[in-house]
Parts: sequence; structure tokens; C-alpha cells
Amino acid sequence: MNIRPRRLRGSEIMRKMVRETRIDKSSLIYPIFVKEGTGIKEEIATMPGQYRYSVDRLPKALEELLDAGVNKVMFFGIPDVKDEVGSQAYASDGIVQKALEKAKAEFQGDMYLITDVCMCEYTSHGHCGVLCGHEVENDKTLELLAKTALSHVQAGADMVAPSDMMDGRVRAIRSLLDRNGHKEIPIMSYAVKYASAFYGPFRDAAGSAPSFGDRKSYQMDFHNRREGLKEALLDVEEGADILMVKPAMSYLDMVREVKDRTQIPVAAYSVSGEYAMVKAGAKLGYIEEDRIICEMAASAYRAGTDIYLTYFAKEIARFIEEGRIG
Ligand code: PBG
Repeated sequence: MNIRPRRLRGSEIMRKMVRETRIDKSSLIYPIFVKEGTGIKEEIATMPGQYRYSVDRLPKALEELLDAGVNKVMFFGIPDVKDEVGSQAYASDGIVQKALEKAKAEFQGDMYLITDVCMCEYTSHGHCGVLCGHEVENDKTLELLAKTALSHVQAGADMVAPSDMMDGRVRAIRSLLDRNGHKEIPIMSYAVKYASAFYGPFRDAAGSAPSFGDRKSYQMDFHNRREGLKEALLDVEEGADILMVKPAMSYLDMVREVKDRTQIPVAAYSVSGEYAMVKAGAKLGYIEEDRIICEMAASAYRAGTDIYLTYFAKEIARFIEEGRIG
């Protein structure tokens, strides 16, 4: 036997030297929920350890994140008032806009601010756009999404991330941002986004479950691979700067596919349901939480992700610090 793979596994020092996947804190993005009101830090029932914050409680949460070594957040807004056209999504005093202004003022560039651009948290019917009958009207929705993205940027967003899955939204957003002098603001598109039960806890967190029907006429069928690639390539053409695959864990084939077939950075979003499963399994004593978090993260990077969005960002940063991963 002249080839013995075990030679390279004999000690921790050797294993670390030949490690193929390196993970860096600078590639982590932490999703955070902000809601109207004051003095609020309420735990999300289906996502233990995750909270909804009012704007006044936000700086402390961001401070903790910075202390952990994570300097990128993505905001999700929970408005008080919802209507047919989701007007709080693009109101200059909307919840995300206020959160951005606060974060910008308090952290002056130390924290990179990203926003999720979508309508579902803001519409009374919970769909990701404006309705015509029972269908989401694609082209009318584009105008509102672009308006939302622009208002986020005007309030201080460093990058916008459309998650609605309407056709042509990247182009519509790019064009409105450019016309308003924001050529430098990147777009991270949720390019390959599946209609997934893994978003269940998020919809509980944000109160954004559709009041009728489902999202299958805009989010993708989870049986499809080529369609995902088509979406990714389209978004590149429309001007996306970063492509996201979502969810992460059950869709790592798509992370690899997008990585191999495009030239721009790839992001993977480990969503609420992935977080909730780990938390629930650990609470029951069925799995070891820390080790599972490390494996999930490493598998996303191994599949080719450059950027990892995760509710476990703080934990992963700590595990990197402790030398347990990366
Ligand atoms: C908005 C949006 C959703 C998520 C991110 N942006 C919900 C959905 O599409 O239903 C899910 C994130 C998560 O589950 O953690 N459209």
C-alpha cells in the first residue's frame, strides 16, 4: 500500500494544515428582526435565542454582534400597519428605514447594513407583491420593490437584497438606484429561492404567512435544478452583484451549481427552519448543537458559498475563534 489517506489525518496539526475549506468571520451575515415600538426585545417562539427588537434596543444587539466579530446584518421589518400595497415597505418612516438611520448614526460605517427587499411583511394578504385578483401582479410589483430598495438606500442601506422572486426585479431596482445617483450600491439577489417549508418559523417571526394560497407561483419548485441556474444567470444579466441560494442545507447542490457556472460571489442563506430544527433537536437532547452548527456551516462553504447568512453567525464566529471550525 503506497497510498494511505490516513497519513493526512493523524493529528490535529496535520488535519488543520490540509484542510480544504477555510471559514472567515468576514463572510458571515446575521439576519435581524426590527419592529415598531419601544423597549422591545421579545424572543421568537419558534426560534429560541432570536429576537424582535424595537429600534431603541437595536444598538445593543448590534454592539454584541460587533463584539463577536460579525459586522454585517440584514434587516427584516415588522410594521404595525399592513395594507393591500405594502406601503410601509417604502415609507420614509417605515420600520426598516428607521432602523437603518439609527444603525448608521450609531455605528458610522463599522456595521455593514443590508436590507431584505420584499413586500410580504407589509401586505395585508401576506404575498410578496400587489395582487390582481388572487395572483401577484409581476410588473406593478416591480415598481414598488424598486421604490422600497431606493428608500432603504436613502435611509442608509449599504446593499439591498430582493427576496420576492418577481421576474425582472434586479433590473428594475438597478435602474431606479442608478437614476437616483446610487450606482455604487450593490444588489445581492435571492436568485435561487425555493418555495420551502423551511421558512415556517420566519413567517411566525415576521407575521408574514400568506392569508390564502402559497408562494409557488413565484418561488421555485424544489424539484428543479436547471430552473435555478436559469434564475441565477438571468440575475447576472440584470446586474446582480451577488447571487444567493436559499435555503442552504437542502440546496447545496445549487450552491455548487451557481458557483461553477457564474463569475460573481455566491451566498447561501441558512434559513429559519434550519435554525429551528437544530434548536429543537438539541433541546430534546437528540443532537449536539455546536457540532451540528459547525458541520452545517462547513458544508455550505465546501459547496462553494462565499458568504453565509445565518442566525448562528455569533456562534460560528466564536467557534472560529476557538479553533473548532475554519
Ligand atoms: C421574504 C423573505 C422570507 C425569508 C427571507 N425573506 C420569507 C418567505 O419568503 O416566505 C425567509 C428567511 C428565513 O426563513 O429565515 N420574502
